[in-house]
Amino acid sequence: MHAIFFPGAPEHFIVIYPSNYVTCNNPVHSNLRSNFKMATKNMKYEPVTFSDKLMSGIMRTMYHSFNFITGYREVNPPTKAIEWRLIVLESFAGVPGFVAAGFRHFHSLRTLKRDHGTIFTLLEEAENERMHLLVCLKMFEAGSITRALVITAQFTMTPFLALTYVINPSAMHRFVGYLEETAVHTYANIIEHVDTPGTHLHESWSKLDAPEVAKNYWQLEKGADKWRDVLRHILADEAHHRDVNHTYASLGPEDENPFIEEHKRDFDAAVARRVSSILQDKVDGSLKK
Ligand SMILES: [Fe+2]
Ligand SMILES: [Fe+2]
Repeated sequence: MHAIFFPGAPEHFIVIYPSNYVTCNNPVHSNLRSNFKMATKNMKYEPVTFSDKLMSGIMRTMYHSFNFITGYREVNPPTKAIEWRLIVLESFAGVPGFVAAGFRHFHSLRTLKRDHGTIFTLLEEAENERMHLLVCLKMFEAGSITRALVITAQFTMTPFLALTYVINPSAMHRFVGYLEETAVHTYANIIEHVDTPGTHLHESWSKLDAPEVAKNYWQLEKGADKWRDVLRHILADEAHHRDVNHTYASLGPEDENPFIEEHKRDFDAAVARRVSSILQDKVDGSLKK
């Protein structure tokens, strides 16, 4: 069992919940953690095995083709190219975690064995990516070409990822690790341009507010609740996915999930935030009386 005491709360106020009861709570990064993750933007996993090299090669080919199709360039990228790039990227990024979680779920049912929390990490990643997509859709529209690309990406990549996972689960995680490296690289480049006067992205995005859904999801504080702050939080998430997937690629299928303690901490933090907001409402209500 876990328990949390709240200073300033009524005497003996305590929340108790079972330690294995963890719902899907996303990590809420501090600004310090976002800055730290931003500093890891050039971190790359050097391919070692044949399968690493194959996955890295497929990823590099996809990256350059995707740049060509979306009209993306690294120096002063046009805003429109970034808008539809992010929608396609995020819609696709939500696939692998869900595919892998599905396979592990069925494996657990079939073999009558516990999973020890990896399914949960993978589902949290998939949900996190879907939230990135929903946040992007609050900021810009998906046109008909973008929608067509989203559907094409899902229909072609889902069988590829599923087949790779069936043959070699580590290879799929390695592929996702490389995908996330490119996502971190892309977001770092976007953020640098948003912060650089005279660029397209600075012109269009530097003064935009964060959408409400993003403020709630990442618990953005006042003064750090602009669209540029959201991009930093997304980058921190992508860097986390990169590290998680490269770790899973190096672990065996029966190894315990090294990230389960993080989920418990995220859950504790979410419970603490919720209870403190209930208490604050109560205090505000009694002050008004
Ligand atoms: Fe994402
Ligand atoms: Fe990601």
